Amino acid sequence: MPLVDPVIERVLAEFERRAEEEHRRTTAPGSPDANLDDLLLSVGRDAGTLLYLLATGAQSRRILELGTSYGYSTVWLGAAARATGGKVLSLELKDFKIEHARQALTRAGLSTRVEFHAGDCLETLKALPGPFDFVLLDVWKDLYLPCFELVHPKLAPGGIICADNMLIPEKVRPQAEAYRARVREAGDMDSVLVDVGNGIEISRRR
Ligand SMILES: C[S@@+](CC[C@H](N)C(=O)[O-])C[C@H]1O[C@@H](n2cnc3c(N)ncnc32)[C@H](O)[C@@H]1O
Repeated sequence: MPLVDPVIERVLAEFERRAEEEHRRTTAPGSPDANLDDLLLSVGRDAGTLLYLLATGAQSRRILELGTSYGYSTVWLGAAARATGGKVLSLELKDFKIEHARQALTRAGLSTRVEFHAGDCLETLKALPGPFDFVLLDVWKDLYLPCFELVHPKLAPGGIICADNMLIPEKVRPQAEAYRARVREAGDMDSVLVDVGNGIEISRRR
């Protein structure tokens, strides 16, 4: 039996076909540098599954996503929110990506579970009161530290932050390592790096 219902599964599969095509195109020998905003840059099936299992396992209801992109991870988090009776706040800089994500969530039957906020997440975050039970951190990697500073005080006790791209791509490893060091310095977070998808740091507030 699939983890999520067939309607959601169909939407995830559409995203995954596009991600495979983008991967083939951008890794082909001699391929020109792609514009990052044209690509899904999605967390992928394994990481999506892990996020769903963690959020539902912890019964997370107040879910925050930093970096919607076109909505692949949002579908997983929306499915988790439906299972827990919760809601996702999803933050993204680019309006056109939010529009695509909104349509995907509607096709997945999850539109009432997700609220999108367009704009710079650092500004949006200042205005969001929290507390949050579950956070996916997946914006551009130079923003991980400032995002952590804003999210950490708003994390509920037992709240979880998952940060993507800790291992892949290798060129953002310095930012990933700085993030992991900062989480350990915080003093109230238990944290582990797992080699799933692009590498995820899973951190839980005591
Ligand atoms: C790696 S992609 C997110 C992928 C998505 N989580 C998924 O798995 O489908 C990163 C996204 O963060 C967005 N982003 C970058 N800087 C941002 C900012 N300051 N505020 C909000 N979103 C931002 C980018 O536009 C991009 O869509």
